[in-house]
Amino acid sequence: MRLTVLSTLFLATTSLSAGAAFAAGDLNVICAADVVICEQMKSDFEKDHDIKVNMVRMSSGEAYAKIRAEARNPKTDLWWAGTGDPHLQAASEGLTAEYQSPMLDQLQDWAKSQAESSGFKTVGVYAGALGWGYNTDIFKQKGYKEPVCWADLLAPELKGEIQIANPNSSGTAYTALASLVQIMGEEKAFEYLKALNANISQYTKSGSAPVKAAARGETGLGIVFMHDAVAQTAEGFPVKSIAPCEGTGYEIGSMSIVKGARNMDNAKTWYDWSLKPQVQSRMKDAKSFQLPSNKTAEIPKEAPRFEDIKLIDYDFKTYGDPEKRKALLERWDREVGAVAN
Ligand code: F6P
Repeated sequence: MRLTVLSTLFLATTSLSAGAAFAAGDLNVICAADVVICEQMKSDFEKDHDIKVNMVRMSSGEAYAKIRAEARNPKTDLWWAGTGDPHLQAASEGLTAEYQSPMLDQLQDWAKSQAESSGFKTVGVYAGALGWGYNTDIFKQKGYKEPVCWADLLAPELKGEIQIANPNSSGTAYTALASLVQIMGEEKAFEYLKALNANISQYTKSGSAPVKAAARGETGLGIVFMHDAVAQTAEGFPVKSIAPCEGTGYEIGSMSIVKGARNMDNAKTWYDWSLKPQVQSRMKDAKSFQLPSNKTAEIPKEAPRFEDIKLIDYDFKTYGDPEKRKALLERWDREVGAVAN
């Protein structure tokens, strides 16, 4: 009898502590990249650690909005991926936590400077240039000229043939907006976007959706990050990716820990792990062809190389500033979104 009581007590204590360990073994992640790489990261991390990852996938602007809405009672611990501008905005609004990973010294300068300029409240995980992908079969059939410059996208024959995301939800589309402003100046950029609107059939929620639609022949061309266009070519679709002749912007895909994260230690564990070369070298297996931030990670052979692209000196500080981002998005809503087809 005494034995039974003792063993019941023992069982109760061990299952309680197992429960406590399980509770401590959670990590709530927002993943703002493509669903395939999000799933791969989750399962690789869970294989390497005794931590259960609860993951939601969102576009960059949506991820920022969720973290902002949860600020008083954070449910998310870590925000992995998505363009850097909203991560910088969150950092300057005090929504994310300072953390200096021991991995920082292994990173490319652009990834480290993202960390330094935010007071170590975010860090670069990958980079990629903006451009577009077009369906070569559609262009050939319809006799369209190859669009190699931003100016070519205004051709009247391309009416209804182009898709781009909405810059409120999508970091890709915000990068396009901010890049055009830097290339042309704000007034000219808005004139351009208003003219381009005539050729846009749809403003999607996610940044890579336009080139997925182009790959399947639902539209002629998608303005996206070039690595997302290349991913469709790698899937076997008739998609050609273009780096615009006038020059283009790029993203520093980033990662941030949420301030007040309930699973802070686990968030740091993911943070350090995801900056490792072997983890970043695996991204290509999910057809995620960005340039990795760890200097010794393998650069996928499909990844569009910065040295082959006319890149602008993208001003991350200015365009990741809350006032600037808000002002540009409001102007886009008024002058482009409101008159969208
Ligand atoms: O699909 C991958 C990717 O292009 C990332 O490189 C980028 O950070 C993210 O998606 C942007 O997605 P969205 O435009 O939907 O915010």
